[in-house]
Amino acid sequence: MCALWCRTGARFDRGSTLAVAAQFDVEGLAVAVTGGASGLGLAFVEALAEHGARVTMLDVDPTATERESERLRAAGFDVRGAVVDVTDHDGLDAAIDEAAATYGRLDVVFANAGIDPGPGFVGAWAGASRPRVEEGALEQYTDARWNRVIDINLNGVFATMRAAARHMRPQRSGRIIVTTSLAATKSEAVIGAAYMAAKAGAAHLMRNVALELAAFGITVNAIAPGFFVTNIGGGHAHNPDLQAAIAKDVPMHRVGQPDDIKGLALFLSSPASAYITGQEIIIDGGWGLGIAD
Ligand SMILES: NC(=O)c1ccc[n+]([C@@H]2O[C@H](COP(=O)([O-])OP(=O)(O)OC[C@H]3O[C@@H](n4cnc5c(N)ncnc54)[C@H](O)[C@@H]3O)[C@@H](O)[C@H]2O)c1
Repeated sequence: MCALWCRTGARFDRGSTLAVAAQFDVEGLAVAVTGGASGLGLAFVEALAEHGARVTMLDVDPTATERESERLRAAGFDVRGAVVDVTDHDGLDAAIDEAAATYGRLDVVFANAGIDPGPGFVGAWAGASRPRVEEGALEQYTDARWNRVIDINLNGVFATMRAAARHMRPQRSGRIIVTTSLAATKSEAVIGAAYMAAKAGAAHLMRNVALELAAFGITVNAIAPGFFVTNIGGGHAHNPDLQAAIAKDVPMHRVGQPDDIKGLALFLSSPASAYITGQEIIIDGGWGLGIAD
């Protein structure tokens, strides 16, 4: 139940003192992932659990939480599920506390839960025709729509990081990994404006928390995905025509699959990234660079 770094007396937060193979060892680490029952969060759960970590999947969807945690347990992995809404901060605190109590510590927390913001002011992701969409126009943007996205995609990240820090700071070690987005770095007209504001806010909050917690051996970083095929926004990303249109614009000419993100999740969770903090790592097949071919 103990990773190579702890069996050899090395420290989780001192990656450079380890042989390279041991630097990616996460066996026995205590992990929690919000939004862990689907898409990228599920990929984070799988990446860590498949490498021997003990993982709590926290998600608002009870059916998916039960189905996916049972599937992974049946495959022999140490995964537990708990239903929680990241907008319920007391409930989130209790769920993170329970995960930490179950494992006796808390090593890695992914603040990943997020929702699609609905339409932006244009109606197509790619291609020659990008018609304006009145429903997504600023003048039509409702407070309810704005507040819902900020509540989950920004306030939820704040509350998750706060709950994690309450365990990690006394421990004087830990990893917090926020899922932001390429939309934190550039505007995307096809998705609602609240998403850009929430993700850019989460990225800058990540940097501030990284600065605050660095002295306590806690690293705080972000993964900023481009276009990945998940169930977000009702699963529009599964549409092959949309994938083909996006892939045309992505310099690597394909969209991302959840498996593409597992290596980065493992890297940011493991001793290998011990000296990296406050960074937002974009994983997008080059999409943010511009159009090449
Ligand atoms: N898919 C992409 O292309 C993409 C790109 C950039 C960023 N992201 C971000 O990745 C993260 C994961 O999204 P995904 O694409 O895997 O979507 P997804 O819908 O497949 O998974 C999101 C999960 O979060 C859960 N969730 C939603 N609201 C919640 C809440 N209030 N409390 C707890 N859980 C909640 C959902 O039930 C779901 O299981 C989000 O933060 C999203 O903004 C996704």
